[in-house]
Amino acid sequence: MTIQWFPGHMAKAKRQVQEKMKQIDLVFEIVDARIPQASRNPLVDEMTAGKPRLLLLNKADLADAEVTEMWQDAFLEQGIAGTLPVNAQTGAGTEKIVIAAEQVMAEKHEKLRAKGVRPRAVRALILGIPNVGKSTLINRLAGKKIAKIGDRPGITRQQQWVKVQGKLELLDTPGILWPKFEDEETGIKLAVTGAIRDERFVSQDAALALLRYLKVHYAEQLKSRYGIGDVPEDDIALFDEIGRRRGCIVRGGEVDYEKTGAVVIRDFQTGKIGRISLERP
Ligand code: G4P
Repeated sequence: MTIQWFPGHMAKAKRQVQEKMKQIDLVFEIVDARIPQASRNPLVDEMTAGKPRLLLLNKADLADAEVTEMWQDAFLEQGIAGTLPVNAQTGAGTEKIVIAAEQVMAEKHEKLRAKGVRPRAVRALILGIPNVGKSTLINRLAGKKIAKIGDRPGITRQQQWVKVQGKLELLDTPGILWPKFEDEETGIKLAVTGAIRDERFVSQDAALALLRYLKVHYAEQLKSRYGIGDVPEDDIALFDEIGRRRGCIVRGGEVDYEKTGAVVIRDFQTGKIGRISLERP
């Protein structure tokens, strides 16, 4: 889905998130484990208004497990109360969410109990940028399919609470944040992972940036996916080799760069090159 974020949309999205914030005790902030930094919204701290937060690194199945662990440590150091790598699609890791949520809320509940107040069921909200897996996770936690609202700020439907493992109450509509548009590198990361579809980051440029990164950090995976002996130093030579190996050839025997770029990006997005993290803390 292509989303155009104009200042008016951003202001509206922010207002909607702040509206939801009033109804909840706890935020599940969901990021893409492959790009935990680029898939966060810069204003999320301000928007969550000091509510306790659990950071979920979703699509962990596609990310480098070692790097994901490094991110978990880094986020804890930044003061995030808890982090969990999850796969909303298969449910791996999601069974720990309720326990983690209880841990994050423990101190607050303790204080309430000390005052003689029995804490009510924790009310939570899932918050994140488009395509990060919010709906998949809500369905997973709810144990049923909940109608998805468009990722368009402004379109609303009646929201409801769904019980999670009989303990947590989850708002069935997520909080939608806009992605960062800070610099070209962030834009490329968001385009490569499928978070945004933006013509400014056409597949060739995005694929080239991806290949440059893979060459440095995941050369073995690259070689094995495309059956390359040695990764060529030259970027175009690498592009050429992949294009030829994957049969992306136009009439006259030239490599079709557009198609090659699209193949590389699709391979990355579907995990065919391997488990890859595009950012390190
Ligand atoms: P959103 O509500 O935040 O916008 O995201 P949504 O749940 O629609 O998920 C976006 C895409 O990411 C979906 O794929 C979804 O299946 C996929 N996805 C969600 N969580 C995970 C995960 O943990 N691992 C992997 N590998 N993929 C995940 P899609 O191709 O857009 O749609 P679909 O045909 O798979 O439903």
